[in-house]
Amino acid sequence: MKVNGKSTRTIWLDSDGKSVGIIDQTLLPHQYAIVRLTNLEEAAHAIKSMQVRGAPLIGAAAAYGVWLALLHDTSDEYLERACATLAATRPTAINLKWALDEMLAAVRNRPRAERAAAALKRAQEINEEDIAINRAIGSHGLALIEEIAATKKKGERVNVLTHCNAGWLATVDWGTATSPIYQAFDKGIPIHVYADETRPRNQGASLTAWELGHHGVPHTVIPDNTGGHLMQHGMVDLVIVGTDRTTAEGDVCNKIGTYLKALAARDNGVPFYVALPSPTIDFTVSDGVSEIPIEQRGPEEVATMTGKTKDGRIETVQVVPDGSPVANYAFDVTPARLVTGLITERGVIAANRESLAKAFPERVAALKKA
Ligand code: MRU
Repeated sequence: MKVNGKSTRTIWLDSDGKSVGIIDQTLLPHQYAIVRLTNLEEAAHAIKSMQVRGAPLIGAAAAYGVWLALLHDTSDEYLERACATLAATRPTAINLKWALDEMLAAVRNRPRAERAAAALKRAQEINEEDIAINRAIGSHGLALIEEIAATKKKGERVNVLTHCNAGWLATVDWGTATSPIYQAFDKGIPIHVYADETRPRNQGASLTAWELGHHGVPHTVIPDNTGGHLMQHGMVDLVIVGTDRTTAEGDVCNKIGTYLKALAARDNGVPFYVALPSPTIDFTVSDGVSEIPIEQRGPEEVATMTGKTKDGRIETVQVVPDGSPVANYAFDVTPARLVTGLITERGVIAANRESLAKAFPERVAALKKA
């Protein structure tokens, strides 16, 4: 998508042919800075520190991380170490494991001299596949938005609520939850997005608002607690969120607070959709609440907030009393029963085992074979 009018991706092979460029998302929205990753440690740090984040982008960055590792050492031991190091960066988004498995399959059985080139090829494919998947999710989601737009009076806008950032910044391009929004906007459908701020890291306020603004999509940032009120007053037509891992039964793990939005949506008859790229499905788990590991992050993310002062300085301030303990669960699970539909690259499907298995039979078959 566009930054200052220029088409931009979140991650790319640098023109030097031996490093990877990323946008440092920890600095947005106040600073736009590019970082170059040149080795395994820098790639792992970028994922762990959330310079790159969002399930699909974590997978794409890990794929490049394996290639960067192999540029330095092509031995079996280093390949194993690289995958283990990258796998340990963040526990919840399954795209990370998916991408590492793909990379291992592409390089493991090759002679050492061929490994780096094979890794680069597969990493680039994973990146291109992500874009194609998200574009397809967008076209299926667009149909849902068009249906709602058709019920509106002329000029009346479709109001979408989204949580966290499942936008292009969370993927290689397009985003998942935002892809239908961008496609509707580009088609001239009057659309407006309520972006939950998404404490504690404020991905909605910092990232979703930033990218929607750069594309010109009308939006309003709301405190996390506002969605229920808006839904009670008929101000939200549909909710679209992303996911970090969706189980074989259709339970959806996503940024903390997603579950509360699903409950409010159900209580108010608002459709609650999840944009789901297939690498985010984990067919090895069924019950999301008991089986998905939920990342717990540092207390400073809750105890402090960072922002821009009136004179343009970036400052971090403490927002809880000295010594108050805090908890920082990064994700929660929305049970399948609260999900209206999963917007996948192969169409909109019900959130249940049968529909997921029918839409992605090759994934189920691969699991049986393993
Ligand atoms: O902790 P983050 O910022 O990586 O969490 C991101 C989310 O929860 C997204 O909604 C999810 O990864 C889907 S991104 C297309």
